[in-house]
Amino acid sequence: MTRELPVDVGGYLRGELRAIEAALERAVSRIEARTDVPAAEADAIRHGVTTGGKRLRPILCVTAYAACGGQRSAEAYDLASSVEMIHAYSLMHDDLPCMDDAELRRGRPTTHITHGEAITTRAGAILIPLAAIQALSATRALGCDEGRARAVARLLMRAAGAGGMVGGQWVDLLGEGQALGGGELDTLHHMKTGALLAVALEMGAVAAGASQAVRQGLLEYGRAIGLAFQITDDILDATATAEVLGKNPSDVVLEKSTYVALYGLAEARQRAQVEVDRAVRALESAHMDSPELNALARFVVERGR
Ligand code: IPE
Ligand code: IPE
Ligand code: MG
Ligand code: MG
Ligand code: MG
Repeated sequence: MTRELPVDVGGYLRGELRAIEAALERAVSRIEARTDVPAAEADAIRHGVTTGGKRLRPILCVTAYAACGGQRSAEAYDLASSVEMIHAYSLMHDDLPCMDDAELRRGRPTTHITHGEAITTRAGAILIPLAAIQALSATRALGCDEGRARAVARLLMRAAGAGGMVGGQWVDLLGEGQALGGGELDTLHHMKTGALLAVALEMGAVAAGASQAVRQGLLEYGRAIGLAFQITDDILDATATAEVLGKNPSDVVLEKSTYVALYGLAEARQRAQVEVDRAVRALESAHMDSPELNALARFVVERGR
């Protein structure tokens, strides 16, 4: 049975956030020191990476690593940060005029507003191989053998790619002005958002040498909270203000296919909760006694931004 210990999720997130921010600062400083990254693109990367996100994906990665017996260390946070580098690039591109055309992100002007479209597009693309290299080198630094380090980097790239986040973003754009059905919407959400959340957990598990059963349990947990996370993003887009969100609600204007559009608010909330319950059950089935992962599953739908 999973212990139902009360976790101060706010306190836990704040503590983890500090360590993640430090790791991201290390990563961006390394990028700025590279001679093959132009200064303007490096500056756009700093703008897109270092400011104000919730850092949920890297927090999930480290939490899974620790739940599977790994020690929290600078190298573990470096590994976790590689997922956030992909997430940050996905947002820089998501906000471009050719995608969601957004001018506000995390309470600040988006990167193409401050640095221009061409630099932002290149900066985002530059982050992809750098994230793969960071995943590989951080896993090696954690003492994993070459096979495991490569497996971790491969997982991240697969989740980021055409069968995962990028593929989901493509379907998202095709879905504008269309009434996607429930199954199609689930696939879209699993790809564009679920893939990166789930792989964050899987990377932590593989780096810690977890058993296949635990990996499978975390994958099911990750898929469920991934869906719940995007449903909640759709709900917040329909109900919260730009001041609270740090981004402008835009799903109605862009005629996006969302859970709120298809099912209405009440049923969207219900369906998000069903996914949270599914996530908690997946932990129990895998005999994963992690109060933190339990609390994070609830945070995904209870968050205000
Ligand atoms: C926003 O992600 C984009 C989605 C995939 C829904 P987050 O809500 O995690 O954004 P930040 O990183 O906290 O700003
Ligand atoms: C973005 O989804 C998913 C990504 C892969 C970046 P949204 O377009 O709904 O994210 P927000 O609402 O702009 O953060
Ligand atoms: Mg989008
Ligand atoms: Mg968007
Ligand atoms: Mg959104």
